[in-house]
Amino acid sequence: MRVLVGTTNPGKLREILHILADIPGIEWLTPRDIPCPEVAETGATLTSNAILKARTIAAATGYPTLAEDSGLEVDALDGAPGVHSARYAGELADHAANNRKLLAALADTSERRARFRAVAVLALPDGRFWTAEGFLNGQIAREPRGGGGFGYDPLFIPAGETRTLAELGLEEKDTLSHRRRALDGLRPVLAALARSG
Ligand code: IMP
Repeated sequence: MRVLVGTTNPGKLREILHILADIPGIEWLTPRDIPCPEVAETGATLTSNAILKARTIAAATGYPTLAEDSGLEVDALDGAPGVHSARYAGELADHAANNRKLLAALADTSERRARFRAVAVLALPDGRFWTAEGFLNGQIAREPRGGGGFGYDPLFIPAGETRTLAELGLEEKDTLSHRRRALDGLRPVLAALARSG
């Protein structure tokens, strides 16, 4: 069974392929193998964006498609940047600019609680789809630390940890991340799909 991962974000792609690699009977395809339409993230929620991406790409390519939308919710910012996490510092902003803007927004507060949330969706070309959500609680560090991961990882300290996600290293991040938890929710349906051929 071939399943397409509908993301071009290299950090996400690496994590998704690593987390789901142990499901037998699935050959994973990526947008490097199959041309995928660009899907504008016009939804108001992570769930609506992930459903839109997965269903649009599955319908266009004819492959079962896994898509994921994720974001960082900061309590002191009333849940921002949330669904806008990728573009927090502007349309063309890179991860470093987003991190700088987040640190500036929290400069005057000791309330550092936050969570990462991910919604994963598996869609079939016939329109059926399944969703699963995962989150990871933690807090925002005072300065970036660590060279691993992507996005806000250098600023995010998972609950019970002293290291940021970027300091944990990729193997360890993949055991506890919001992405791992969301993708684990899709395991039964992926395994059933693989068994059915
Ligand atoms: P999107 O799902 O493509 O809209 O982008 C999600 C954005 O949320 C990323 O560009 C990051 O800024 C942030 N994000 C989501 N998951 C993670 C993560 O695991 N680590 C760090 N940042 C993340």
